[in-house]
Amino acid sequence: MSKTYKIAVIGGDGTGPEVTREAVKVLKAAAARFGFKLDLHDYDYGGERYLRTGEVLPADAVEEMRRHDAILLGAIGHPDVKPGILEKGILLKLRFDLDQYINLRPVKLYPGVETPLKGKGPEHIDYVVVRENTGDLYTGAGGFSMRGTPHEVAIQTSVYSRFQVERCLRYAFDLARARNKKKTLALCGKTNVLTYVYDLWERAFHEIGAAEYPDIKREYYHVDATCMWMVKNPEWFDVIVTGNMFGDIITDLGAITQGGMGIAAGGNINPRGVSMFEPIGGSAPKYTGQNVINPLAAICAGMMMLDHLGEKSAAAAIEKAVMDVTANKLKSLAAGRMGYSTTEVGDLVAERI
Ligand code: IPM
Ligand code: MN
Repeated sequence: MSKTYKIAVIGGDGTGPEVTREAVKVLKAAAARFGFKLDLHDYDYGGERYLRTGEVLPADAVEEMRRHDAILLGAIGHPDVKPGILEKGILLKLRFDLDQYINLRPVKLYPGVETPLKGKGPEHIDYVVVRENTGDLYTGAGGFSMRGTPHEVAIQTSVYSRFQVERCLRYAFDLARARNKKKTLALCGKTNVLTYVYDLWERAFHEIGAAEYPDIKREYYHVDATCMWMVKNPEWFDVIVTGNMFGDIITDLGAITQGGMGIAAGGNINPRGVSMFEPIGGSAPKYTGQNVINPLAAICAGMMMLDHLGEKSAAAAIEKAVMDVTANKLKSLAAGRMGYSTTEVGDLVAERI
């Protein structure tokens, strides 16, 4: 009997629904070719729904999401909604409530894709950032006092427990082992200034590494130096593990070195729960409905979802198809300059599966 995966599809705002449609097109092609079934359920969470109903997420949304094998997300962000409301109310809420404690962000340059890094090609840019996804400055710990007065104080605190750090490190060590490339895990921190939080990370890193992963080489970089080396010597990296805030920042840098938001994808992973896959870029509202935005990032998010669900051959076939399209078809990854429309790029990938 063939396997059926129950997938929640949240197209979201702006160009989110258009790119998600192309990802679904490719996923369906992969399902037909590799003999599994997709039971797809659309959800209208996003800015439009919020403006219409005044509700960011329905009360039962998280429970509803739990009833799926995975979530495919387009983009959240609406020009008429104040920044923070949708991000916190939808994206971060799902990440936190579903305990998606890993944000997995591959940085891989595909053939034919232009990188701003001079002299670097696909053989130099192929690593993964494991961004912790539930702690740090993102927990909302903090507050104001004397708000609105000249003496106003704002505090926002980085929060990490040993438990959060350990489970993230183990995931990253396991990944370095499974990749079987340089067998190196780099911790990105700031032990010279953040002497509590990254001290905890560094101690746990070496303790777990020495006891459980003697086959994996350990390296440490401060976050500022990490940025430098990601530009100068990206070939040094295999797996980088870091906290939520640094991970957010360095993965935008990583994304631009692999060709930008048109291609960069990530997974919010709960290894024992429901994971959510998304293009890293935003909703790009000015391109909405024009059929010009690049769907490859959403397609790559779909590929990561299949890989996570265990459909390894199907995921590999999608990646191969994407690489063939970047190498031989697209003029550029930029919206409106691909030489093809959004739907045509989806077709190009789907027909190669
Ligand atoms: C990301 C985004 C989010 C984050 C925002 C939209 C809350 O930048 O997925 O990287 O900071 O995590
Ligand atoms: Mn970000």
